[in-house]
Amino acid sequence: MERFAFIIHPIDVRRDVGRKYPIARYLPEKMVEWLVMKLFKPRVISHITGVKSLTGAEAEGWLVGCPLSPRQILELDEEFVFDTIAECGRVAAAQGAKIVGLGAFTSVRGDKGLTIQKKLEGVINVTSGNCYTTYTAIEGLFKAAEMMNIDVARACAAVVGATGSIGQVCAKIVAPKVAQVSLIGRDEQRLARLADALRNGSRTNVRATTDINTLRDADLVVTVSSAVDALIRPEHLKSGAVVCDVARPRDVSKQVAQARDDVLVIEGGVVEVPGEVDFGFDFGFPPKTAYACMAETMMMALEGTYEPYSLGRDLDVEKTLRIGEIAKKHGFKLAGFRSFERAVTPEEVERVRERVRRS
Ligand SMILES: NC(=O)c1ccc[n+]([C@@H]2O[C@H](COP(=O)([O-])OP(=O)(O)OC[C@H]3O[C@@H](n4cnc5c(N)ncnc54)[C@H](OP(=O)(O)O)[C@@H]3O)[C@@H](O)[C@H]2O)c1
Repeated sequence: MERFAFIIHPIDVRRDVGRKYPIARYLPEKMVEWLVMKLFKPRVISHITGVKSLTGAEAEGWLVGCPLSPRQILELDEEFVFDTIAECGRVAAAQGAKIVGLGAFTSVRGDKGLTIQKKLEGVINVTSGNCYTTYTAIEGLFKAAEMMNIDVARACAAVVGATGSIGQVCAKIVAPKVAQVSLIGRDEQRLARLADALRNGSRTNVRATTDINTLRDADLVVTVSSAVDALIRPEHLKSGAVVCDVARPRDVSKQVAQARDDVLVIEGGVVEVPGEVDFGFDFGFPPKTAYACMAETMMMALEGTYEPYSLGRDLDVEKTLRIGEIAKKHGFKLAGFRSFERAVTPEEVERVRERVRRS
């Protein structure tokens, strides 16, 4: 039996903590964040059983809770944040796990797991899971494009958060497949450097911008920023656009669900896990589905290599494509589409297409 662990933390602190302690919903957000940080230590949240690969390999794992919110992970003293995450790794190792995945913002701060891995050298291996997250985001984007009858080769794609770890690889993989790619971020110099790298020897028209309003031109959008608040509002989107939102917390505002019935927004990075898996924890997903970054951690366990597959800011395109093969070998696959916490049915996609035809 192979053993892995995965670190989770509250995303919307009042909502997440409020499930168990309803009073949290009525307290100021910063107070709840502070209380959680002070009262809870990194600890095992659940035991994951029943992960079984098509190869026959089996794995069990543990969810380890990190008591920090996205805002705290981004804003508190870096050493304190890294030490808290490393402590989660030690909790995982004490259960017998040989690899730990960094969930949500625990992989966003700093150097995407490199320092955490250094702190845990000889204790446990670490992966951010970003390669498989990127792979499934692109897979989902193109599948949704096909369902919406978008001609990818003529399409304009946009990557929001393009200079980020996941954003850069998304841009590199998507750019050669489309007519135009728009790189959207907040650092002009980094955007310009990425745009130059993409233009090199390519026929794709590459645009780099800090203006989110330019999203209006995009048929295909992958959004992967680490913004704490939603960036994409109803007025930003083109009619008929497909948006794959990989960010946690989400980049696409809930208002989009209410105001734009002519766009298809899907959650990126959600996959079906092989076997009769029981997470012992409710992510708000259908049974047997998990985040792609968690799935990558499981795969490294099922491979028996416990390889720290995705570490550091600069992800490798080859490795990102190769993880798709590893996933296939073990039986991981893209889950059915979800949008704003609900399953997307074929009828719903048809309704979106119909509204686009009529508009
Ligand atoms: N679904 C999954 O399984 C899964 C797995 C892993 C990660 N994620 C999510 O993916 C997202 C990105 O992760 P990452 O590791 O690629 O993070 P990252 O390397 O920090 O990249 C994030 C990018 O977003 C940009 N950004 C941040 N705030 C912004 C704002 N207000 N406006 C515009 N751009 C902004 C950053 O710009 P600068 O370059 O200027 O800082 C950076 O380029 C996170 O939300 C994370 O939780 C999801």
